[in-house]
Amino acid sequence: MTLEPHTFMTTMEKRVSFTEADKALLMSHQSWGQEIASEMADHFYAYLGRDAEMDAIMSAKEGRIHRLRETFIQWFHEMFTGMDNWGNGYADRRWRIGLVHVQIGIGPQHVVPAMATVVNEVGKRTKKDGKPEELRDALGRICMIDLAFIEQAYVEVSSAAVLKETGWTEGLFRRLIATGAGSM
Ligand code: HEM
Repeated sequence: MTLEPHTFMTTMEKRVSFTEADKALLMSHQSWGQEIASEMADHFYAYLGRDAEMDAIMSAKEGRIHRLRETFIQWFHEMFTGMDNWGNGYADRRWRIGLVHVQIGIGPQHVVPAMATVVNEVGKRTKKDGKPEELRDALGRICMIDLAFIEQAYVEVSSAAVLKETGWTEGLFRRLIATGAGSM
Protein backbone atom coordinates (compact mmCIF):
# COMPACT_ATOMS: atom_id res chain seq x y z
CA MET A 1 0.00 0.00 0.00
CA THR A 2 3.02 2.29 0.37
CA LEU A 3 3.04 5.00 -2.23
CA GLU A 4 5.87 5.28 -4.72
CA PRO A 5 6.31 9.06 -5.18
CA HIS A 6 7.82 8.94 -8.67
CA THR A 7 5.03 6.82 -10.14
CA PHE A 8 2.46 8.89 -8.27
CA MET A 9 3.87 12.08 -9.81
CA THR A 10 3.57 10.66 -13.33
CA THR A 11 0.04 9.43 -12.66
CA MET A 12 -1.04 12.80 -11.30
CA GLU A 13 0.54 14.72 -14.19
CA LYS A 14 -1.57 12.66 -16.58
CA ARG A 15 -4.66 12.88 -14.38
CA VAL A 16 -4.68 16.67 -14.15
CA SER A 17 -3.23 17.16 -17.68
CA PHE A 18 -0.15 19.00 -16.48
CA THR A 19 1.61 19.46 -19.81
CA GLU A 20 5.02 20.41 -21.19
CA ALA A 21 3.45 23.75 -22.19
CA ASP A 22 2.42 24.31 -18.54
CA LYS A 23 5.97 23.60 -17.41
CA ALA A 24 7.48 25.99 -19.95
CA LEU A 25 5.04 28.72 -18.94
CA LEU A 26 5.81 28.30 -15.25
CA MET A 27 9.56 28.29 -15.90
CA SER A 28 9.32 31.52 -17.87
CA HIS A 29 7.46 33.18 -14.97
CA GLN A 30 9.92 32.21 -12.23
CA SER A 31 10.88 35.75 -11.35
CA TRP A 32 7.24 36.86 -11.26
CA GLY A 33 6.64 33.92 -8.89
CA GLN A 34 9.40 35.19 -6.63
CA GLU A 35 7.97 38.70 -6.75
CA ILE A 36 4.53 37.62 -5.55
CA ALA A 37 5.62 34.84 -3.14
CA SER A 38 5.74 37.05 -0.07
CA GLU A 39 2.23 38.41 -0.70
CA MET A 40 0.93 34.87 -1.23
CA ALA A 41 2.53 33.82 2.06
CA ASP A 42 0.74 36.73 3.78
CA HIS A 43 -2.63 35.59 2.43
CA PHE A 44 -1.90 31.98 3.33
CA TYR A 45 -0.89 32.61 6.95
CA ALA A 46 -3.62 35.20 7.46
CA TYR A 47 -6.07 32.51 6.35
CA LEU A 48 -4.60 29.88 8.74
CA GLY A 49 -4.52 32.44 11.54
CA ARG A 50 -8.27 33.12 11.23
CA ASP A 51 -9.03 29.50 12.20
CA ALA A 52 -8.64 28.78 15.91
CA GLU A 53 -7.51 25.17 15.42
CA MET A 54 -4.93 25.95 12.76
CA ASP A 55 -3.75 29.03 14.63
CA ALA A 56 -3.09 26.84 17.67
CA ILE A 57 -0.98 24.44 15.57
CA MET A 58 0.97 27.34 14.10
CA SER A 59 1.71 28.89 17.47
CA ALA A 60 2.49 25.60 19.23
CA LYS A 61 6.24 25.95 18.73
CA GLU A 62 8.60 28.87 19.11
CA GLY A 63 9.64 30.31 15.74
CA ARG A 64 7.28 28.07 13.76
CA ILE A 65 5.42 30.86 11.97
CA HIS A 66 8.66 32.49 10.92
CA ARG A 67 10.05 29.15 9.67
CA LEU A 68 6.83 28.42 7.84
CA ARG A 69 6.89 31.71 5.96
CA GLU A 70 10.30 30.74 4.59
CA THR A 71 9.27 27.19 3.71
CA PHE A 72 6.11 28.49 2.02
CA ILE A 73 8.15 30.90 -0.14
CA GLN A 74 10.52 28.09 -1.09
CA TRP A 75 7.61 25.73 -1.86
CA PHE A 76 5.92 28.40 -3.97
CA HIS A 77 9.14 29.01 -5.92
CA GLU A 78 9.57 25.29 -6.61
CA MET A 79 6.20 25.18 -8.37
CA PHE A 80 7.68 27.55 -10.97
CA THR A 81 11.12 25.93 -11.30
CA GLY A 82 9.96 22.32 -11.04
CA MET A 83 13.27 21.65 -9.19
CA ASP A 84 14.40 18.87 -11.57
CA ASN A 85 11.84 19.49 -14.30
CA TRP A 86 9.09 18.12 -12.05
CA GLY A 87 10.99 14.82 -11.85
CA ASN A 88 11.91 12.44 -9.04
CA GLY A 89 13.43 15.16 -6.86
CA TYR A 90 10.22 17.15 -7.07
CA ALA A 91 8.11 14.07 -6.27
CA ASP A 92 10.30 13.12 -3.28
CA ARG A 93 10.08 16.65 -1.91
CA ARG A 94 6.27 16.74 -2.24
CA TRP A 95 5.97 13.34 -0.56
CA ARG A 96 8.16 14.57 2.30
CA ILE A 97 5.94 17.67 2.73
CA GLY A 98 2.95 15.33 2.95
CA LEU A 99 4.62 13.23 5.64
CA VAL A 100 5.53 16.31 7.70
CA HIS A 101 1.85 17.32 7.78
CA VAL A 102 0.72 13.83 8.78
CA GLN A 103 3.22 13.87 11.66
CA ILE A 104 1.81 17.14 12.94
CA GLY A 105 -1.78 15.88 12.63
CA ILE A 106 -2.87 18.21 9.84
CA GLY A 107 -5.64 16.50 7.90
CA PRO A 108 -7.57 16.98 4.66
CA GLN A 109 -10.02 19.38 6.34
CA HIS A 110 -7.12 21.78 6.93
CA VAL A 111 -5.12 21.31 3.77
CA VAL A 112 -7.83 21.41 1.09
CA PRO A 113 -9.20 24.88 1.92
CA ALA A 114 -5.66 26.14 2.53
CA MET A 115 -4.65 25.14 -0.99
CA ALA A 116 -7.86 26.68 -2.33
CA THR A 117 -6.69 29.97 -0.79
CA VAL A 118 -3.42 29.76 -2.70
CA VAL A 119 -5.18 28.96 -5.99
CA ASN A 120 -7.67 31.76 -5.46
CA GLU A 121 -5.12 34.42 -4.49
CA VAL A 122 -2.70 33.48 -7.23
CA GLY A 123 -5.59 33.68 -9.72
CA LYS A 124 -6.44 37.21 -8.59
CA ARG A 125 -2.82 38.30 -8.84
CA THR A 126 -2.43 36.74 -12.31
CA LYS A 127 -5.36 38.81 -13.51
CA LYS A 128 -4.17 41.99 -11.80
CA ASP A 129 -0.73 41.70 -13.41
CA GLY A 130 -2.18 40.97 -16.86
CA LYS A 131 -0.65 37.48 -17.02
CA PRO A 132 -2.12 34.87 -19.38
CA GLU A 133 -5.01 32.74 -18.17
CA GLU A 134 -2.93 29.71 -19.14
CA LEU A 135 -0.47 30.61 -16.38
CA ARG A 136 -3.26 30.66 -13.80
CA ASP A 137 -4.44 27.27 -15.09
CA ALA A 138 -0.93 25.78 -14.99
CA LEU A 139 -0.53 26.95 -11.40
CA GLY A 140 -3.91 25.49 -10.52
CA ARG A 141 -2.83 22.13 -11.93
CA ILE A 142 0.51 21.97 -10.12
CA CYS A 143 -1.21 23.05 -6.89
CA MET A 144 -3.61 20.12 -7.32
CA ILE A 145 -0.71 17.71 -7.76
CA ASP A 146 0.96 19.05 -4.62
CA LEU A 147 -2.33 18.79 -2.76
CA ALA A 148 -2.78 15.20 -3.89
CA PHE A 149 0.63 14.33 -2.41
CA ILE A 150 -0.28 15.78 0.99
CA GLU A 151 -3.70 14.11 1.03
CA GLN A 152 -2.40 10.77 -0.17
CA ALA A 153 0.32 10.81 2.49
CA TYR A 154 -2.42 10.99 5.11
CA VAL A 155 -4.19 7.91 3.72
CA GLU A 156 -1.00 5.94 3.14
CA VAL A 157 0.46 6.59 6.57
CA SER A 158 -2.81 5.82 8.39
CA SER A 159 -3.30 2.60 6.43
CA ALA A 160 0.29 1.46 6.87
CA ALA A 161 0.07 2.11 10.63
CA VAL A 162 -3.11 0.01 10.97
CA LEU A 163 -1.67 -2.85 8.90
CA LYS A 164 1.54 -2.85 10.94
CA GLU A 165 -0.25 -2.75 14.28
CA THR A 166 -2.87 -5.40 13.47
CA GLY A 167 -1.05 -7.68 11.04
CA TRP A 168 -4.12 -7.57 8.77
CA THR A 169 -3.70 -8.14 5.06
CA GLU A 170 -4.38 -5.29 2.70
CA GLY A 171 -7.36 -7.19 1.25
CA LEU A 172 -8.96 -7.59 4.67
CA PHE A 173 -8.35 -3.95 5.45
CA ARG A 174 -9.99 -2.81 2.22
CA ARG A 175 -13.02 -5.06 2.89
CA LEU A 176 -13.38 -3.63 6.39
CA ILE A 177 -13.32 -0.09 5.00
CA ALA A 178 -15.91 -0.91 2.35
CA THR A 179 -18.15 -2.60 4.95
CA GLY A 180 -17.69 0.31 7.34
CA ALA A 181 -18.58 2.85 4.67
CA GLY A 182 -21.58 0.79 3.68
CA SER A 183 -22.92 0.77 7.22
CA MET A 184 -22.65 4.53 7.80
C1 HEM B 1 -1.52 24.37 0.74
C2 HEM B 1 -1.22 23.56 1.69
C3 HEM B 1 0.12 23.58 2.39
C4 HEM B 1 1.37 23.66 1.88
C5 HEM B 1 1.77 23.75 0.43
C6 HEM B 1 2.30 23.63 2.99
C7 HEM B 1 3.67 23.69 2.88
C8 HEM B 1 4.55 23.34 3.91
C9 HEM B 1 5.96 23.09 3.77
C10 HEM B 1 6.74 23.21 2.47
C11 HEM B 1 6.45 22.73 4.98
C12 HEM B 1 7.88 22.36 5.34
C13 HEM B 1 8.04 20.85 5.28
C14 HEM B 1 9.41 20.36 5.71
O1 HEM B 1 9.88 20.74 6.79
O2 HEM B 1 10.00 19.58 4.97
C15 HEM B 1 5.33 22.77 5.91
C16 HEM B 1 5.41 22.48 7.25
C17 HEM B 1 4.39 22.75 8.13
N1 HEM B 1 3.10 23.14 7.83
FE1 HEM B 1 2.33 23.33 6.00
N2 HEM B 1 1.57 23.55 4.16
C18 HEM B 1 0.25 23.52 3.83
C19 HEM B 1 -0.81 23.47 4.70
C20 HEM B 1 -0.70 23.61 6.06
C21 HEM B 1 -1.80 23.78 6.97
C22 HEM B 1 -3.29 23.84 6.58
C23 HEM B 1 -1.30 23.88 8.21
C24 HEM B 1 -2.10 24.04 9.47
C25 HEM B 1 -1.79 24.73 10.46
C26 HEM B 1 0.18 23.75 8.07
C27 HEM B 1 1.11 23.79 9.09
C28 HEM B 1 2.42 23.38 8.99
C29 HEM B 1 3.31 23.15 10.12
C30 HEM B 1 2.94 23.32 11.58
C31 HEM B 1 4.55 22.75 9.58
C32 HEM B 1 5.83 22.37 10.35
C33 HEM B 1 6.55 23.63 10.72
C34 HEM B 1 7.77 23.36 11.58
O3 HEM B 1 8.84 23.15 11.01
O4 HEM B 1 7.62 23.38 12.80
N3 HEM B 1 0.47 23.59 6.76
N4 HEM B 1 4.20 23.16 5.23
